[in-house]
Amino acid sequence: MSVEESLANGSAEAEDVVTPWTVSSQNDTGIDYDKLIKKFGSCKIDDEMLKRFEKLTGKKPHHLLRRGIFFSHRDVNVILDSYEKGKPFYLYTGRGPSSDSMHLGHLIPFMFCKWLQDVFDVPLVIQLSDDEKAIWKNLDIEQAVKLSYLNAKDIIACGFKLEKTFIFSNLEYMNSAFYKNMIRIQRSVTFNQVKGIFGFGDSDPIGKISFPPTQAAPALSSTFPFIFKNNTVPCLIPCAIDQDPYFRMTRDVAPKLNHPKPALLHSSFFPALQGPKTKMSASDNNSAIFLTDTAKQIKTKINKYAFSGGQATIEEHREKGGNCDVDVSYQWLKFFLEDDDRLEEIRKGYTSGEILTGEIKKELIELLQKLVGNHQEIRNKVTEEDVKRYMEPRDLGFVVKNS
Ligand code: TRP
Repeated sequence: MSVEESLANGSAEAEDVVTPWTVSSQNDTGIDYDKLIKKFGSCKIDDEMLKRFEKLTGKKPHHLLRRGIFFSHRDVNVILDSYEKGKPFYLYTGRGPSSDSMHLGHLIPFMFCKWLQDVFDVPLVIQLSDDEKAIWKNLDIEQAVKLSYLNAKDIIACGFKLEKTFIFSNLEYMNSAFYKNMIRIQRSVTFNQVKGIFGFGDSDPIGKISFPPTQAAPALSSTFPFIFKNNTVPCLIPCAIDQDPYFRMTRDVAPKLNHPKPALLHSSFFPALQGPKTKMSASDNNSAIFLTDTAKQIKTKINKYAFSGGQATIEEHREKGGNCDVDVSYQWLKFFLEDDDRLEEIRKGYTSGEILTGEIKKELIELLQKLVGNHQEIRNKVTEEDVKRYMEPRDLGFVVKNS
């Protein structure tokens, strides 16, 4: 029975939908993430894990971890156990370049990866799945590659260390080691399995059906012989939780290919300006703030579209206070305002009615104008040569200490 049918029958509550292609919820506060953890069978990131991060790195956990925005994981303890014993790991994340301008939500996994790379001092590989977007969005192949290069500039502007970062376009980089691993994965997964995991049907182009191994292969260190030589190195993947199906599949096959199962750190979704029922869409210009927006556009969009948890009139707001759980400005501050004390002040003030919607919006506007302006300044300095350097397959100085 479909969700719509169950609803029509009155036999079910509206279920959240989380797949790599659709994220939607009927609830005002968005996806129920605790339910999602149960459904996916992942683990909640708890205080104990945060303490472990702190102990191992000597650094306060990143605010995206402290605030539960990265909220779920698979096997992170296994990675930390071996790291503790002096065995390194590597980080893998990616992006499907579907448009030339990335929006604020796209920055989240990269901001977080940059922090992980800094505190653990490990290599990072970044997949630009232009093949995926060419298949799903029917983009011209050459255009898809161009988008990869444009997006690479935004990614580089997040501050990744050149000596420890390899960025690759699937369409351009595909080499022998990568292809061999894809074939190893392809022959280990049946059509029935991908149907079950991704919902593919008989009429889907076979490009879709055969794509998942392309996203899976970089989670096996042997895909990058120029980085890892003959070593089998565990992989940690920070990503939004809608990407989990790819890695459930990867975790199933990895042991059969003599590789450890990749570990995962899952983030929740960055809400659209209109509210947390959907994730932002690069194709709806007013649902998101783009990294190319001007200071004026940022101000106008937030003032005009940011869903407010405040009351209808000032008098009512002063009396009843605002609702931070649905207020998009507050939710966005949670993602980007690093100062915990200030954030708590805002939460209390807004909830009690002391802070008005216009005021919380003003604080967000100023913060984002600075953040986006800063990003643009750095991005404008990234040259074609820089992009080539990051995208050149090369030794990243990785060594395994023998214990
Ligand atoms: N499929 C992802 C998207 O559409 C892009 C992607 C490729 C990715 N490889 C990844 C995301 C690894 C996270 C981790 O955006």
